[in-house]
Amino acid sequence: MTDRYAVFGNPIAHSLSPQIHSYFATQTKQDLVYDRVLVPEGEFKATADKFFADGGCGCNVTVPCKLDAYSYADTLTEYAKAAGAVNTLKKLPDGSVLGDNTDGRGLVLDLLRTNCPLKGSRILIVGAGGAARGILKPIVEQLPQSVTIVNRTLAKAKDLASLYEGVEATDYSNLDGYFDVIINATSTSLEGKLPAISDSIYKNASYAYDLMYRKNENTVFVQKALDCGVKQVYDGFGMLVGQAILSFELWRENAHLNFNECLEYLK
Ligand code: ATR
Repeated sequence: MTDRYAVFGNPIAHSLSPQIHSYFATQTKQDLVYDRVLVPEGEFKATADKFFADGGCGCNVTVPCKLDAYSYADTLTEYAKAAGAVNTLKKLPDGSVLGDNTDGRGLVLDLLRTNCPLKGSRILIVGAGGAARGILKPIVEQLPQSVTIVNRTLAKAKDLASLYEGVEATDYSNLDGYFDVIINATSTSLEGKLPAISDSIYKNASYAYDLMYRKNENTVFVQKALDCGVKQVYDGFGMLVGQAILSFELWRENAHLNFNECLEYLK
């Protein structure tokens, strides 16, 4: 029987996940369908209960349902716990539902693919919301020399930093020092705005990454980093594909995908 997967969110019509996972299924010769599910406000549990009762095997979860999915899961991976949010649910053989978060590991896959200096480097994470929380554990695991979180609301940066030994927190007005890698985890690119980082911070960096992406155009953060002469600059398309690969491989344990081939096809 054809296995059922889906992406849950609201809105959901724009999601690229069905295209991405259909391509993965073809590549790995897996018999599955992957749909979009619009979750009405306040109805995540009812929607997920019905999906799994009807034979659903797993789903991705996007805005604004990642916290609902966290509460819904019977068990959580250490990455889901660290992120405080779930982007992947999987029905297990005993009927229970596992919650994982592949966003941060998807980012790290893309950072490593693009030869980002992680081990021993000084990393600046811009933003302290859900996106920043989701990437922190996998980044810290890469053994950077230092990690600094800068955020408009200092208290949120401090709360997040306190979860990991040695991670520093600051606000923009006190941001100082040299960073090799800048990762934009704010939502500013959505509004075409920039976080308040001085040009000298960009100029000292060798690598910049925006978790956001825009089809066929640079985000304002990517453009700013390029304008300041940062040598390696990427947007979050690779992270989107990376997190999808990790979800797919969690669901379909014998399926293995080639990251570069997937990116080449999907870009
Ligand atoms: P997400 O889940 O996408 O991370 P979020 O939890 O709302 O969304 O967090 C958004 C992040 O973008 C936060 O770090 C937010 O800063 P505050 O915590 O101070 O609100 C940051 N952000 C949003 N708009 C911003 C702006 N105009 N300038 C600087 N930071 C901004």
